[in-house]
Amino acid sequence: MDPALVESLTRWRRHLHANPALTLQEAPTAAFVAARLREMGVEVTEGVGGHGVVGTIRRGGASNRSVGLRADMDALPIEEANPGLPHRSTVPGVMHACGHDGHTAALLGAAALLLADEGWSGTVRLVFQPAEEGGGGARSMIEDGLFRRFPMERIFGWHNWPGLAAGTVAVHEGPVMAAGARFEIAFEGHAGHAALPHLTRDPMLGAGHCIVALQSIVARNLDPLDAGVISVTIAEAGEAQNQVPRRAVLKGTMRFLRDAAGATLEAGMRRVAAGIAAAFGLEAAVEIRPGVPVTANHPAERDLAAAAAAEVTEVRRDLAPAMTGEDFAWFLREVPGCFVWIGNGPAEDGRELHNPCYDFNDAILPVASRYLAAVARRALAAE
Ligand code: NI
Repeated sequence: MDPALVESLTRWRRHLHANPALTLQEAPTAAFVAARLREMGVEVTEGVGGHGVVGTIRRGGASNRSVGLRADMDALPIEEANPGLPHRSTVPGVMHACGHDGHTAALLGAAALLLADEGWSGTVRLVFQPAEEGGGGARSMIEDGLFRRFPMERIFGWHNWPGLAAGTVAVHEGPVMAAGARFEIAFEGHAGHAALPHLTRDPMLGAGHCIVALQSIVARNLDPLDAGVISVTIAEAGEAQNQVPRRAVLKGTMRFLRDAAGATLEAGMRRVAAGIAAAFGLEAAVEIRPGVPVTANHPAERDLAAAAAAEVTEVRRDLAPAMTGEDFAWFLREVPGCFVWIGNGPAEDGRELHNPCYDFNDAILPVASRYLAAVARRALAAE
């Protein structure tokens, strides 16, 4: 890669790291992206589904195919703990702890590589999505006509992966990341004096049993060869130390790789909550809000991605999926595509996703840009 482009990639990435923007507040990042694309002479549309930016590169020739490459742009509400870092976040309480700064810079680099390369034809859509971190950015772009206004036959994306050797691309056969749903279970009882428990119906007791019993769904109802997670992460109840409260609420998240497993977890949760309520004389209300679907690669695009990655770097096909979620899943419901991981290097000294000491590894930017350009060329040249 041209050393001047390598230098630009690092400078762009560090600028984005120093100037992070929260989910749904990505205006400065979108403006930066649009400015870099315009400098390169790329046709730019801003404000797609919020702060989304779409760049289009067309080149006449043998192929009339189209392909999308996607990066996410948002940062997290985490206070950075890298005091010595020259490009440390300048925004209090906000940091790029998931490496979306690197994803954005690498896609700009792919645009530069494709513009400099005469050896392809067709249409490339550069999709810079906002609000990946639970903000519904992918769906906002789709609802704003992403695939209608900017037709693309396939789409490819990636996430940096701490713990995987720097620059190695991991391609999964099917599921890459999990589907998720958030749940809330509210137990209603009868409040009263803590020392006169026989005059109350105690929702705390029900909630306590429920926390334990929910784990029996994964352990006893789910096929042991299937993947599922239920985590109760918030318990809200009580105001006074000498009062049995009226209400106790449990909140958390569930994850799964197959829709059938999700249905098992949901049915189990409703059954356990209702059963515990009946046993303890309480009322239970269960609310489950679906999150992202499973991020699952399509077979032909998975093979295109693996071949493109092999042009550029080491490829691994043996990694298990992760139970974290990825908003890219929504794009894969619209058009076929593939989502890969690119190794960020050792997950040590806090170099882990969503850790306050995380920093994207600039050394993998050239690999990521070259992979994206290579997969676009292969998709446009495909039969
Ligand atoms: Ni991320």
